[in-house]
Amino acid sequence: MAQPQIKLHYKNVLAKVQPLGPEHGITDDQLSDLAEKTSPLIKQLNEQTRASQPPGTAYRKLPYDAKTPQQVKELVAKLKDGCENLVVLGIGGSALGNIALQTALNSYMYNLDDKQRSGPRLFVFDNVDPTQLTSFLDAISDDLDKTVFNVISKSGRTAETAAQFLIIRDLLKNKVGKNALKNHIVATADPEKGTLRKIADEEKLPSLQIPKGVGGRFSVLSAVGLFSAAMCGIDIDSLLAGAKDMDIRVSNEDFYKNPAAINAAVNHHFYNRGKKISVIMPYSYHLKNLADWYRQLWAESLGKAENLTGSEVHIGPTPVKALGTTDQHSQVQLYREGPNDKLFTFLEVQNFEQDLKIGPAPESAPELQFLAQKNLSLLLNNEKKATEYALLQSHRPYLTVLFPEVSPYTVGQFIYLFEVTTSLTAALFNTNPYNQPAVELGKEATFALMGRTGDYKPNYKYDDFAKDIQTLTKVDEEFLV
Ligand code: PA5
Repeated sequence: MAQPQIKLHYKNVLAKVQPLGPEHGITDDQLSDLAEKTSPLIKQLNEQTRASQPPGTAYRKLPYDAKTPQQVKELVAKLKDGCENLVVLGIGGSALGNIALQTALNSYMYNLDDKQRSGPRLFVFDNVDPTQLTSFLDAISDDLDKTVFNVISKSGRTAETAAQFLIIRDLLKNKVGKNALKNHIVATADPEKGTLRKIADEEKLPSLQIPKGVGGRFSVLSAVGLFSAAMCGIDIDSLLAGAKDMDIRVSNEDFYKNPAAINAAVNHHFYNRGKKISVIMPYSYHLKNLADWYRQLWAESLGKAENLTGSEVHIGPTPVKALGTTDQHSQVQLYREGPNDKLFTFLEVQNFEQDLKIGPAPESAPELQFLAQKNLSLLLNNEKKATEYALLQSHRPYLTVLFPEVSPYTVGQFIYLFEVTTSLTAALFNTNPYNQPAVELGKEATFALMGRTGDYKPNYKYDDFAKDIQTLTKVDEEFLV
């Protein structure tokens, strides 16, 4: 039976849609220009993928990697029995995909209702707030022996993840003993390099690999996302099958048949015409954290100071996350009447796994009768239509990604579609989507402030770096009000 395909609907970015016109929509000529500009870039990306050059394109091979899901399943078979809590320690690309998969594919009450879960409870710690972690550790202190920690770090040098790991390792050593650490910690790291790989090898911890060339924010379909998903009962084969089928669609060199190419071209077009903010707005609780995942993918991949020829460009659309219908009552006033500087992407679910009928209206409130006996999903999707209509009346263009259903297969498709969209958008901007040089300074500054010793740069010690940071950032009494 044919699998349900997600689709990108792009009619309502076109100038022929009357409220948009040529001022806020794409004309036929502009669309042909975009096709002409983007088609060679699809071909180029396909060739880069085949040649693994630049290495960042390695994420495109993940749906075809049969070995990793096998290793993941073997580890799950070993650790799942008796495991009540799975805790992911990671940040950025080493956490957001895990959160997105869990929210998308397990039920809302998964952690709280034993009947609704087919694996351990899942907690993802992607921050170092001591009160948050203390509260969590207090709550599970009697259950540490039934808890598995998956520490994820590609570089192995991220301060947040390292600190969490050292806290947990110490706790576990005291509670279950050093020799039993291997039953409670899974390290997901670079295959060869980095501190986490070194510790995992030395302490004989079970470990999984993040393939070379797969950057953090492109890694959800690697062991990074697959292990927690499989532990929590998500069908990872189906997830990867969705991504693989999407790979065929987004490799198509015919622009008009390629959803990633159209998505990238539309985003690029509007960015260049003053719509520099890209709002993603799922109309589905389950899809809401895919918007967070997308925010990182888009921001770190596309926000760049230099283009590929070394010119200073300071380019990149600002991704914004909204949720329908919640943000209709929070953001839509701005979206309609504020600056016309946004492109909207809605995510719509056509068939919800569960639905509810709205009850009858009381006699005292006949004005509520219009809702009675209707499905809640009808209200949700009609609210989306209402928002679309209202935006169009304010000359605001939008795209929609249509999900026939929310399932591992369609979520795998979505992830892959947006990863390739990101690569193609960067190609249109002529920038490198696979690095994040601007994040590094903050990481190094943290090391300095936390007391790292030695040279930060030639003739510049971490000590001196820390003093310079303190001078610039210290709270000055004179300006305290
Ligand atoms: O996309 C990226 O590369 C980053 O967001 C990283 O995922 C994040 O900084 C965490 O890095 P690491 O996995 O090396 O600890």
